[in-house]
Amino acid sequence: MQLTGNIVVGQSGGPTAVINASVAGVYSAGKELGAAKVYGMVNGIQGFLKENLLDLDEYLAEEEGIELLKRTPAAFLGTCRYKLPVPEGHEDIYEQIFAVMEKYEITTMLYIGGNDSMDTVKMLSDYAAAHGKPQRFVGIPKTIDNDLPVTDHCPGFGSAAKYIATSLKEIIRDNEAYEGKTKLILVEIMGRHAGWLTGAAGLAKGEDCTGVDAIYLPERVFDVDAFVAKIEELAAKKSSVVIAVSEGVKLADGRFVSEFFAESTDVDVFGHKQVAGSCATLADIVERRTGIKARVIEPSLLQRAATHIASLTDIDEAFAAGSAGVKAAMEGLSGVMITLNRVSDAPYKCETAAYDIHAIANLEKMVPEQFISKDGCQITDEFLAYLRPLIQSELYPIFKDGLPAHLVRRK
Ligand code: F6P
Repeated sequence: MQLTGNIVVGQSGGPTAVINASVAGVYSAGKELGAAKVYGMVNGIQGFLKENLLDLDEYLAEEEGIELLKRTPAAFLGTCRYKLPVPEGHEDIYEQIFAVMEKYEITTMLYIGGNDSMDTVKMLSDYAAAHGKPQRFVGIPKTIDNDLPVTDHCPGFGSAAKYIATSLKEIIRDNEAYEGKTKLILVEIMGRHAGWLTGAAGLAKGEDCTGVDAIYLPERVFDVDAFVAKIEELAAKKSSVVIAVSEGVKLADGRFVSEFFAESTDVDVFGHKQVAGSCATLADIVERRTGIKARVIEPSLLQRAATHIASLTDIDEAFAAGSAGVKAAMEGLSGVMITLNRVSDAPYKCETAAYDIHAIANLEKMVPEQFISKDGCQITDEFLAYLRPLIQSELYPIFKDGLPAHLVRRK
């Protein structure tokens, strides 16, 4: 079977260490299956609306380009956080997208993103179906938050988990070098409303590492008094205390912990509150109540940009998800997202499939109960068994002048 027409691929939402590997997968499969052109949309659907496209042959025609792209962090094509409005009253926006597709003879759009980006795939595939348009739309999952439903896990998560566990081992090593007065470290981990990535802090524990002393996920209501009591209990016993806290932990009244002192009203276009700051808030509370000073570490976007320590399993799966998206479209599918289905843990085996986007877009998958310890302060062995295969193996950077080389778009 051969692909008819051209392909366009876009990246949307927060980048990951492996989101570019999915672009590489789309390009490779597209070319292999006979697409004359594989275009990249610059800055997601927002750029596409402005006809901001590039021909990926310019960068990826040689194998060297693909290898460099797989080792390049952030969104090579540029990203956006743009919410496509409902078609009613905004037909012009939709018609503009289809007009650009027709102009460039694009029959297939692959959109790499998280929950919000899958909404774009849903809206466009629904619009095409309702208006008898032949173009196909397929979502490729990506998010360090790992919160897309249906799929076992999301490309991007394994590498972020590897970075978090690695960094925590290093932080614990450093903190344990001292003796005497307790040194408390609070590490704030991304994940918005879901605790998958914070849970990955549990991977730090091993033969050569005592591991983090407590892990706080947003799936459990955050009790400030119990947290302070836990710190006091740990400080009485240990000189090094390292705690992982999700950026999204919430109080019983529904406010983010970061809103403990002041009401925050900052929201992005999807209505998500800006939640950074849970650890800074907690450090303040702990110091006021106990006198113990905490060092706050916010890995912030380092945790999603650390391609230098990406998981090869993750890179391979991101690439495979991109390729599977092209194949799904070629088989006639539209309005689907590629999923990763875990077949077995030992040996680890994972297959791609396609699933109805309506069961995925805008929904969030939380860490299940059986992955969290009874006291809510650690993760279970079952969670560790789920995580472990996702961080395996490495793909080292190509170093130039002592630094990792990246593939960069010419502006
Ligand atoms: O969606 C991925 C993510 O990295 C979240 O974990 C985080 O809350 C958010 O993006 C931050 O987004 P931005 O960098 O756009 O503020």
